[in-house]
Amino acid sequence: MGPAGLLLLILATAAQLLSEAQFAEYPTANISTLWVNNEDYMSNLGFNDGSVVRSIVVSSPQTFFGPSFGAGFFCASPCNAFLFAVYIFHIDGIHGESKTARPHVVWSANRARPVREGATVELTIDGNLVLRDADASLVWSSGSSGRSVAGMVITKDSNLVLFDHSNGTVWQSFDHPSDVLLPGQSLLEGTRFVATNWTENQFYMTVLPRGLYGYVESTPPQLYYAYSVWVSENDTGNGPTKVNFVNGSLSLLVQSRQPSNPHMSNISLPAAKSTQYMRLESDGHLRLYEWSQAEATCTLLSDVTKIERLPDDCAFPTVCGEYGICTAGQCTCPFEDNSSSTNYFKLVNGRKANLGCAPLNPISCQEMQHHQLLTLTNVSYFDESHTIENATNGDSCKQACLKNCSCRAVIFRYGLNDSKGDCLWVTKVFSLQSIQPETASFNSSAYLKVQSSPSSAANKKVILGITLALVTTIIFIAIVITVCLLRRGKYEDNDEDLQFDQLPGMPTRFPFDKLRECTEGFNKKLGEGGFGSVFAGKLGEERVAVKRLEGARQGKKEFLAEVETIGSIEHINLVRLIGFCTEKFQRLLVYEYMSGGSLDRWIYYRHDNAPLDWHTRCGIILDIAKGLCYLHEECRRKIAHLDIKPQNILLDENFNAKVADFGLSKLIDRDQSKVMTMMRGTPGYMAPEWLTSQITEKVDVYSFGVVVMELISGRKNIDNSLPEESSHLINLLRGKARDNQMSDLIDEHSEDMLSHQEQVIQMMKLAMWCLLNDAGQRPNMSMVVKVLEGGMSIETTILHRFLNTNTVLPLEDNPNAYSVQTQASILSGPR
Ligand SMILES: *[C@@H]1O[C@H](CO)[C@@H](O)[C@H](O)[C@H]1NC(C)=O
Ligand SMILES: *[C@@H]1O[C@H](CO)[C@@H](O)[C@H](O)[C@H]1NC(C)=O
Ligand SMILES: *[C@@H]1O[C@H](CO)[C@@H](O)[C@H](O)[C@H]1NC(C)=O
Ligand SMILES: *[C@@H]1O[C@H](CO)[C@@H](O)[C@H](O)[C@H]1NC(C)=O
Ligand SMILES: *[C@@H]1O[C@H](CO)[C@@H](O)[C@H](O)[C@H]1NC(C)=O
Ligand SMILES: *[C@@H]1O[C@H](CO)[C@@H](O)[C@H](O)[C@H]1NC(C)=O
Ligand SMILES: *[C@@H]1O[C@H](CO)[C@@H](O)[C@H](O)[C@H]1NC(C)=O
Ligand SMILES: *[C@@H]1O[C@H](CO)[C@@H](O)[C@H](O)[C@H]1NC(C)=O
Ligand SMILES: *[C@@H]1O[C@H](CO)[C@@H](O)[C@H](O)[C@H]1NC(C)=O
Ligand SMILES: *[C@@H]1O[C@H](CO)[C@@H](O)[C@H](O)[C@H]1NC(C)=O
Ligand SMILES: *[C@@H]1O[C@H](CO)[C@@H](O)[C@H](O)[C@H]1NC(C)=O
Ligand SMILES: *[C@@H]1O[C@H](CO)[C@@H](O)[C@H](O)[C@H]1NC(C)=O
Repeated sequence: MGPAGLLLLILATAAQLLSEAQFAEYPTANISTLWVNNEDYMSNLGFNDGSVVRSIVVSSPQTFFGPSFGAGFFCASPCNAFLFAVYIFHIDGIHGESKTARPHVVWSANRARPVREGATVELTIDGNLVLRDADASLVWSSGSSGRSVAGMVITKDSNLVLFDHSNGTVWQSFDHPSDVLLPGQSLLEGTRFVATNWTENQFYMTVLPRGLYGYVESTPPQLYYAYSVWVSENDTGNGPTKVNFVNGSLSLLVQSRQPSNPHMSNISLPAAKSTQYMRLESDGHLRLYEWSQAEATCTLLSDVTKIERLPDDCAFPTVCGEYGICTAGQCTCPFEDNSSSTNYFKLVNGRKANLGCAPLNPISCQEMQHHQLLTLTNVSYFDESHTIENATNGDSCKQACLKNCSCRAVIFRYGLNDSKGDCLWVTKVFSLQSIQPETASFNSSAYLKVQSSPSSAANKKVILGITLALVTTIIFIAIVITVCLLRRGKYEDNDEDLQFDQLPGMPTRFPFDKLRECTEGFNKKLGEGGFGSVFAGKLGEERVAVKRLEGARQGKKEFLAEVETIGSIEHINLVRLIGFCTEKFQRLLVYEYMSGGSLDRWIYYRHDNAPLDWHTRCGIILDIAKGLCYLHEECRRKIAHLDIKPQNILLDENFNAKVADFGLSKLIDRDQSKVMTMMRGTPGYMAPEWLTSQITEKVDVYSFGVVVMELISGRKNIDNSLPEESSHLINLLRGKARDNQMSDLIDEHSEDMLSHQEQVIQMMKLAMWCLLNDAGQRPNMSMVVKVLEGGMSIETTILHRFLNTNTVLPLEDNPNAYSVQTQASILSGPR
């Protein structure tokens, strides 16, 4: 080392010493101490932007160039009110003369009620941390009196901790997040944090039993974000759900009934190079920031809410402000389809369309007779959590909204038939989104309530219309109620000595002894599933499969209702229910016997079977598609299977495939295109919409896509015996599609498959269509059947869409890649 180098070293050391002297670390404070927010009492650190910090405790940088952490009084620029806060800050230069970096607040005690000069913080002798304003009024306290607090410390991960004599944590700021999450922080069920700008729309996120949910305030709050795993109703509560933010991931831990086997899910985040934090911001986005030494500030790394959201930018409450309509990222104000001359809305700010729109006449509940609904076709909404139960067509939906003044808009969603749909309602209208029914694969119209000026001739017509519609609705409701009462009556009649087995075409009721005899005492087990074991049996000459449901606690009535539904479904590609048994606690189902066993045997465990040829595989795919198509679109009650996987596809001796176990999924009425809101999935595996509150039968389309890929590739979706980069088939597909090497994925054990390369790749494209993250963009099963039968071709853009949907969906090592575990519900109850 030359003299110059030595000089540099000395200078650097001196700089370090000086800068340490400048803000020497004093991370702990003792009890029975009072701090007064006053320049004379506390070291005052002013920054170039005008903000000020007066620190009570300070922790030095983790790395030499990293930021420091402090807790004390903070004043934002322009400085006129103080927060008691935890902040990240940094001072450059040898003497701290250059204060370009501004402090970043990561926690505060009194956001809603800032304090003045002369305010005090006291760590009292009995261990309470108390903030009082200059007039000595109590603003905030930690509520930790009498819990043997020994002192206060600011940790290296910016946690303000009150500890006791044995170093135990009595209170910590990590348990009470304001709007920021920090690495190392763990949120327990019940924790809620709120976006900073509480004067505007209030956004908050909260940890609920099944995950982390984001809401925008209104009465009731509207759900705009969900990061959750699906667990059955009875499988939670064994310990609180936890969300952990650690270096590289935001993970979710939901306890299950078996403590050793919790449900987990991770969102992967960029690894930390320096101090990071996540902030829930005033537009509802949760964004990840990292300290950047070069820029002397915290810079944006990623939008965590977007990683989990569908790629659609428009599906966000703030994207176009209130009442704004988002069309491919552009914002406009609502106007009626059939260009009426009246305008009901204007831009809040003429130059900034994304700030939203305001009604010209505010809605008055005193003049409900002048309420009108503005019709917007092909317009949808992000929140799907509040539906009006009995409004299943557009008119009843609109009437329901006009009847209640708190209703500010309804969104009517339907599929093929507009007399059966969902009526979503809101009491506050955030951004609306334009949709194209073809790509969204549902129709949606929004009806916005407006206040029309009185005494126009049109209004009389409207009133007449309303009256008529009201009468119609009342008659309609009366009919619905009558029908329901009649149906209920029917079930009540049927209770004990129900003559179920005598109904023609219905499954036969067997005595338990008979089934025991026909299976030779449940001797020959064919398989085991989530719902119970399956045994081979013989009824006369006919071979049958007897499923013995385990843990069935369902009432007899519900069971019979279920059996009636399953029994009434007959389709060549669905496994037929022959009979059933219900005696005391026994619940058994008798199915037709399928000699080929389940599909997984033929694709994963081939043993000495020859690999299936292309023609056979095509046939199987078409059979599954037809079976699902029937369940989704053709039978009396729409049925989402929710558990499509090779184990649930059975084959006969000629490789005709049938879908099994469909009755065990939730049955849904045609008029409710959404399945139970309780059901959730795991990101990356199941269809992405399991993350959001409500799912549709499109989850089956996704699972179907996975099965198609497995059948083509002759392997499991998740195969941990393979190297990590190829263990997940759908990820691999993405990679191969990007590199235009999809042919690598064709089952190499089959010459025949390789010789049909071109057709196989077409089939992969169909799978990709089914695997789109956005459920709305996936095809219906009837479209899939059409494609398979050659009556329709796949859009040429599919590859592009598949590759451009978000690829950062986190993945887990869960082998049940596409199956939904519904152990808790043996059969769904009638709805
Ligand atoms: C806290 O109290 C201990 C002894 O009780 C003393 O040594 C230490 O200096 C005090 N710390 C501060 C920050 O006042
Ligand atoms: C408490 O923790 C600090 C730092 O972690 C350590 O230095 C100290 O020895 C601990 N005291 C006790 C009583 O465990
Ligand atoms: C709150 O929102 C308003 C309007 O959007 C904005 O002017 C203000 O700066 C925001 N305040 C904070 C603390 O973000
Ligand atoms: C975060 O993890 C990465 C590797 O996963 C590591 O390189 C980095 O140093 C870690 N960051 C912090 C702040 O610990
Ligand atoms: C617009 O069309 C709707 C039906 O689509 C009709 O009820 C309404 O009266 C029309 N409005 C005008 C101003 O023509
Ligand atoms: C709604 O979408 C359908 C299908 O794309 C289209 O035919 C119709 O014209 C659209 N309606 C309006 C009002 O844009
Ligand atoms: C909806 O209809 C059911 C009967 O089908 C009835 O019991 C219920 O009260 C109705 N709900 C509303 C909100 O009208
Ligand atoms: C209108 O809807 C709100 C929210 O559900 C409800 O609390 C209120 O009772 C309803 N008002 C009337 C008149 O039905
Ligand atoms: C939308 O509704 C029309 C009839 O109103 C129907 O023909 C069309 O198929 C529906 N579109 C979708 C995607 O369901
Ligand atoms: C729509 O549903 C109604 C009532 O269920 C039925 O009468 C009508 O035929 C259906 N229309 C179509 C096109 O399926
Ligand atoms: C999720 O992240 C946590 C914390 O990094 C880790 O312990 C866990 O193994 C991860 N789980 C999965 C399935 O990757
Ligand atoms: C869940 O548990 C409750 C109470 O133990 C029981 O009544 C209910 O039937 C269970 N639900 C299911 C789906 O098993």
